[in-house]
Amino acid sequence: MTVVKILCCLLLTYHLNEGKQIKGNRAVDRVQRVVLRVKEPYVSSSVFRMFSEGEDNCTLDPLQLHTLTSCGFNSSNPIIIITHGWSIDGMLDSWVLRLVTTLKTNLIDVNVVITDWLSLAHTHYPTAAQSTRTVGKDIAHLLQSLQVHYQYPVRKVHLIGYSLGAHISGFAGSYLEGSEKIGRITGLDPAGPLFEGMSPTDRLSPDDAEFVDAIHTFTQKRLGLSVGIKQAVAHYDFYPNGGDFQPGCDLHNIYDHISQYGLHGFQQTVKCAHERSVHLFIDSVLNKDKQSMAYRCSGKSAFDQGVCLDCRKNRCNTLGYNIKKVRSGTSKRLYLNTRSRMPYKLYHYQFRIQFVNQMEGIEPSLTISLTGTKEESGDVPIIVTGNISGNKTHTFLIALDRDLGDLMFLKLHWEGSALWKNMWNRVQNVIAWGGRERKPLLTVGKISVKAGDTQERTSFCAMTNDGQHVEVSKDEVFVRCKDEAPRRNRRKHI
Ligand SMILES: *[C@@H]1O[C@H](CO)[C@@H](O)[C@H](O)[C@H]1NC(C)=O
Ligand SMILES: *[C@@H]1O[C@H](CO)[C@@H](O)[C@H](O)[C@H]1NC(C)=O
Ligand SMILES: *[C@@H]1O[C@H](CO)[C@@H](O)[C@H](O)[C@H]1NC(C)=O
Ligand SMILES: *[C@@H]1O[C@H](CO)[C@@H](O)[C@H](O)[C@H]1NC(C)=O
Repeated sequence: MTVVKILCCLLLTYHLNEGKQIKGNRAVDRVQRVVLRVKEPYVSSSVFRMFSEGEDNCTLDPLQLHTLTSCGFNSSNPIIIITHGWSIDGMLDSWVLRLVTTLKTNLIDVNVVITDWLSLAHTHYPTAAQSTRTVGKDIAHLLQSLQVHYQYPVRKVHLIGYSLGAHISGFAGSYLEGSEKIGRITGLDPAGPLFEGMSPTDRLSPDDAEFVDAIHTFTQKRLGLSVGIKQAVAHYDFYPNGGDFQPGCDLHNIYDHISQYGLHGFQQTVKCAHERSVHLFIDSVLNKDKQSMAYRCSGKSAFDQGVCLDCRKNRCNTLGYNIKKVRSGTSKRLYLNTRSRMPYKLYHYQFRIQFVNQMEGIEPSLTISLTGTKEESGDVPIIVTGNISGNKTHTFLIALDRDLGDLMFLKLHWEGSALWKNMWNRVQNVIAWGGRERKPLLTVGKISVKAGDTQERTSFCAMTNDGQHVEVSKDEVFVRCKDEAPRRNRRKHI
């Protein structure tokens, strides 16, 4: 019996080496499986390239582990593995090298590897999406080889995946055997189609690593599908500019893109918002002094009302590489606004203004200008909508590209609409006011401004007793209230 089995094995191995398929009874099948497990080495569909200085790369062969050291792999250092997404042209996107170079030059002592799965990514989207598990297994296998041969702790691994690459990174985490989890996974605009609404095991999810963060930049629906996934998939999910679309990516920028990228300009426009996630991440590594802060919020409209600039209980965090890795049970959705170019950071301020005993039906458009110890904001228009009667406090978000420093004073200007002014003049002409000129007034109660980055709130008071009254088309200046000395020990949330 044993002899027969051994013979069978030999025969099978022979046939397998010949590349022939054997169809037989169940017993033979079982033997074949055993042989495959013992004899067949793991065949990776993906190629791993390690980057040394500059753009030089070296292909890693997980089966020949000496290639790791000859490629410059240093097992004392963390490893970052970058995984690209679906490929239309079968070429690596230019952001890949840009991200690699940024990481290599700005982070010392780090191993940077890319997962090249172009052969599987350069197919129809559904086929490429199906291959994400396979590529995830390839990465898990690479990490397991590192564990076995270098005692490399997987918590020193950071996977960064773009689009489909984000889900691949998630699968890598879930295929990893053993109790230890990958340290961090960053999903850069994780792909939406075929993943949105799926169970956590079928997409990137917080279970896939010790810490998972995601940046959502293109979740706007087109033809019922969105390119990026809308739902939260991480411990911290960032939604820059609401996450659905990005500034500077409108079609009218196509001319800019064509002059910059030539014929790829159109493609560049299409990918602009999706790829913004990558550039936001690069920005976070490059511009250390301009870290973008994001705030937990229920949605974009609440954020734009300025009610979410709170940092207590980890309600805010830094977007990108330098995120604070605080784990929490549930996914947190964080919002921020950004510029359209690098550096992307905007400084968020919450502006609160109370109107006292107003008449009904006024929706004044105001211009605010803030002056701080470092900079001035310039004129920022706000439109007060809704009922401003009855001492109601209105809140607005102001996002500026400069840090103003400690706020010193602010100027309010009530833009009288042309209609208002004309009407007012007519009214004045028709009705005699008994010599004393009266004008429409807005009576302002409390004004305060809170800076998101420092969490400092400043209250403003009128300079004179009369100064709470804002007239149409006139500036009114409000200064720091007397009882408020600038606080020196500002709380930093970086
Ligand atoms: C890796 O290096 C080879 C040869 O130097 C080059 O042809 C190839 O484009 C490089 N690949 C990447 C992803 O940089
Ligand atoms: C590996 O990196 C460490 C610093 O993290 C360095 O001290 C050491 O010399 C490096 N080893 C090799 C072989 O380059
Ligand atoms: C504004 O508020 C007043 C008093 O609170 C109320 O009588 C009035 O109907 C409100 N108007 C609108 C347009 O909501
Ligand atoms: C608004 O506040 C003033 C002063 O605090 C108070 O006298 C007035 O009754 C308030 N009006 C309303 C509608 O609450």
